[in-house]
Amino acid sequence: MDDKCLTRSEMEYQVITLHKEIFGEKLNTFLYDQNGMLTIQGDDRVIGYALYVFTENIMDVHYTAVAPEYRGEGFGHEVMKGILAHACRRMVSLITLEVRSDNEVAIHLYKKTGFKEVNVRKKYYKDGCDALLLNREISINDLKAYFEDDEYLEVYPPLEDVIEQVQ
Ligand SMILES: CC(C)(COP(=O)(O)OP(=O)(O)OC[C@H]1O[C@@H](n2cnc3c(N)ncnc32)[C@H](O)[C@@H]1OP(=O)(O)O)[C@@H](O)C(=O)NCCC(=O)NCCS
Repeated sequence: MDDKCLTRSEMEYQVITLHKEIFGEKLNTFLYDQNGMLTIQGDDRVIGYALYVFTENIMDVHYTAVAPEYRGEGFGHEVMKGILAHACRRMVSLITLEVRSDNEVAIHLYKKTGFKEVNVRKKYYKDGCDALLLNREISINDLKAYFEDDEYLEVYPPLEDVIEQVQ
């Protein structure tokens, strides 16, 4: 998909607007600095995004989303690929996330990305829905795939210190 590159502020503005539309929540972008936000862009706009925080060697994913009019076209998988790439780039050992137990599409997507259910928080959400806790370990094979995939490297060039650690 051809598109111009959005500036950081255009990107953030679009993520805030999409987030409000999808989750009905005002987004505090302050939580997700430039290390905690990835976007999939096309048609001169943000099509999908993920928001996460890194704490020590864990990447905690708070949100993944695709604009409603682009769903079912594989962009969810692109978002997950970006998450894995960023996890490898930062050399974390674990990605963790929480999802509503009734969100079948997201659960399917996460499990297809290798996430495993590790716990259930009963009636975690205000409406009584359970929360599933899913984990995805980062393996040596993930790191190899990241460092050997030109597509990844173009979007997430490795940090110098990461290259040193891997060599
Ligand atoms: C979850 C979400 C990100 C998936 O994005 P997407 O672009 O539709 O995902 P993809 O097109 O890459 O499809 C991913 C998988 O889900 C399946 N899928 C997509 N939409 C589906 C639907 N409506 N019903 C059943 N399966 C569906 C696809 O077939 C695909 O499975 P496959 O790889 O086995 O073929 C998107 O639905 C979304 O933004 N939902 C609202 C926000 C949300 O709930 N986020 C997750 C919690 S934070």
